[in-house]
Amino acid sequence: MPPASTAATLPTLRWIGEIDGCLALIDQTLLPVECREIECRTAEATWEAIKSLRVRGAPAIGVAAAYGVCLGIQSVRDRPEAELFARLSKVCDYLATSRPTAVNLFWALDRMRRTGESLRGKTPVAEIAARLLAEARAIEEEDRRMCRAIGRHGAELFADNSGVLTHCNAGGLATADYGTALAVIFAAHEAGKRLHVFADETRPLLQGARLTAWELLQRGIETTLICDSMAAQVMREGRIAAVIVGADRITANGDTANKIGTYSVAVLARHHQIPFYVAAPSSTFDFSIASGVEIPIEHRNPQEVTHGFGRQTAPTGVAVYNPAFDVTPAELIAAFVTERGVIRPPYLEYLRILREPN
Ligand code: MRU
Repeated sequence: MPPASTAATLPTLRWIGEIDGCLALIDQTLLPVECREIECRTAEATWEAIKSLRVRGAPAIGVAAAYGVCLGIQSVRDRPEAELFARLSKVCDYLATSRPTAVNLFWALDRMRRTGESLRGKTPVAEIAARLLAEARAIEEEDRRMCRAIGRHGAELFADNSGVLTHCNAGGLATADYGTALAVIFAAHEAGKRLHVFADETRPLLQGARLTAWELLQRGIETTLICDSMAAQVMREGRIAAVIVGADRITANGDTANKIGTYSVAVLARHHQIPFYVAAPSSTFDFSIASGVEIPIEHRNPQEVTHGFGRQTAPTGVAVYNPAFDVTPAELIAAFVTERGVIRPPYLEYLRILREPN
């Protein structure tokens, strides 16, 4: 039976073994009560884990999908090349249907597809699965490095002894390790700054309460949990010096999709003249889309709203609207914290540096 723990001793996700191995990931739907791994042994199990948010957060679902591809081709890795490539393409298409908004998913699947294509006709079929596994591992390792760099670049944004508000979970659980928005908080904390973090609970699925508060407490960071509707009051009381959130997709002009409720936090921050920062790796930027109106927004099961706390909390039959993400316009964003550094407006000009090779 995979291990269970109450402390953050397990990585968010990890590949166990070699080409015949499997993907182990923390089942985040069980947190904060239980920290337990599940093992995905098929592409279908990986799809289900992404869809049902056992693994979630834009970078983490990209990494999980890359390993899902490795699982999906295991049974055909010794078959004729045409068969292996037909399966590769099918598995990538299939995993791409799990969630629509976070571009990291498509970015990672595209890398897996391109890696496969670059080997076609040139590499013995028996080696292709190993090369794809190496690519998935590289995606995971790059994500770890990008998160650390985001933390290093962003830590300077926070003053000592200040309050920071965050929404949803953009921590180690949402990435291969360390996080994006929370990476900045972790790095500032490790540099000796005393921060007081206000975590929005993040209805309907409570990623802020269940996951962010858990991660912050694990690291000994002063944390106060608030309901989403309390953010304005906390800002008016002068307790927040900065807001920082993660992102699921950032378009060429800087418009940013993130967890539902992020847009309202950005509007509140502007009203109270508080800087609103977005932390994200380059894998979250989608330069093929000019602006936020084109971002596909995931709509989820109404039951997440009507049965949010383990019991029915709304009358049977009520109409429900449940978009999982919203788009914050670029003009409300004070800066992007990326692995290449802090990028400030005008975004159309400066985001271009992320397109250039490192
Ligand atoms: O629905 P989720 O939990 O996958 O949504 C996650 C978020 O919105 C995060 O803020 C975003 O993916 C950034 S994670 C580094």
